[in-house]
Amino acid sequence: MQVDELLKPFPIKEFHPFPRAMLGPGAHEMIGPEALKMGFKKTLVMTSGLRGTDIVHKIVESMKYHGLEVVVYDKVESNPKDYNVMDAVALYQQNNCDSFVSIGGGSSHDACKGARVSVAHDGRNVNEFEGFNKSENPQNPPHIAVSTTAGTGSETSWAYVITDTTTDPDNPHKYVAFDDASVTSLAVDDPVLYYDCPVDYTAQCGFDVLAHASEPYVSRLNFPPSLGNALYAIKLTNENLRPAVWNGQDLPGREGMMYAQYIAAQAFNSGGLGIIHSISHAVSAFYDTHHGLNNAIALPRVWAFNMPVVYERFADIAQVMGIDTHGMTTVQAAEAALAAAIRLLRDVGIPERFVDVTQDSYSKNRLGQGPTKYYEQHKRIVGDAADVDRITNHVLGDACTPGNPKECTFETVRPVVEHCMNGDLDDLLG
Ligand SMILES: [Fe+2]
Repeated sequence: MQVDELLKPFPIKEFHPFPRAMLGPGAHEMIGPEALKMGFKKTLVMTSGLRGTDIVHKIVESMKYHGLEVVVYDKVESNPKDYNVMDAVALYQQNNCDSFVSIGGGSSHDACKGARVSVAHDGRNVNEFEGFNKSENPQNPPHIAVSTTAGTGSETSWAYVITDTTTDPDNPHKYVAFDDASVTSLAVDDPVLYYDCPVDYTAQCGFDVLAHASEPYVSRLNFPPSLGNALYAIKLTNENLRPAVWNGQDLPGREGMMYAQYIAAQAFNSGGLGIIHSISHAVSAFYDTHHGLNNAIALPRVWAFNMPVVYERFADIAQVMGIDTHGMTTVQAAEAALAAAIRLLRDVGIPERFVDVTQDSYSKNRLGQGPTKYYEQHKRIVGDAADVDRITNHVLGDACTPGNPKECTFETVRPVVEHCMNGDLDDLLG
């Protein structure tokens, strides 16, 4: 049977916009001049603080040198919470700011995108904009997004992800908002800023890239403009993630991952995601674990789950992962891609099951300062039947799930979640 016959059709596709971008070593030096050109006068900088680095200090001082007034909100948490967004909105309004700069990974960019949307609606709560294109006023403040990780792609995508803490703490809700009005005004990707990214985050963010690239390549949206970018981003990740992790100051590795993350985000921006991301969102909703880590653990299981409906696509992935597929059947080539992903995961030292995740991988309110206030009572991942059930239910409600190539029901997805929790990756290998 043909792949297309098995996929639920999405007959009308939509191509979502990208912002301008400046990419390459030294690009962060352009933030001040570019902000001036865009008319910034008083800017709210949103960041997690990036403590242990001097990145925020240097960028803020550079902006001041160029004559800009700067206010800093440096309390964005990993898996940004609605209160982070609304605290930043209040600071923006109190100081009569006119523009935003976000510095960090996806958390800082996403919180900033949410804040811009809120500001454009007189400070209405960000949670009111969950869903697709919920902005009623697209005229929100300009935003320069400066990435310090190679993973998120948020600096160039139309998505932002927020944890809604107003819901029942026993049934937390993390959502994706897709909004063309949230697209930034300028993306800045400078691989030199990645030098300070810790080894574990570098690896985990790299698997966010592999998820961003592989999900649109097999998505039921099957959007041709995304397919080339998706494959090339997988190729770049396979070639560059190991060197970037093994030597944080390997410029070719860091620059390769910079392009991989940028290109992968542009692939999923219109090409869709799938249940790697849905599982990732669900686990961080309940446990506040790192998005890239969650993706890395989910990715091999979801590839194995989806493979029977898209063997040809996974055979393509094998080729760009450097496997000589001559003489292999399509199924053998697809399975070789899965084996290559598992090798990559092990080579960069990522935990293989959610129950193996150590306390260090749970998000902190500040680097090294304990759990966020919303998660103080939450325990480590247990992976028991109740845990698997509630995470499966969250997966089924996620905005990324409809793009998954294989039909998702509670009965089909639950074993995938169960395997993420407790299963042995070697079981997936033929
Ligand atoms: Fe992601």
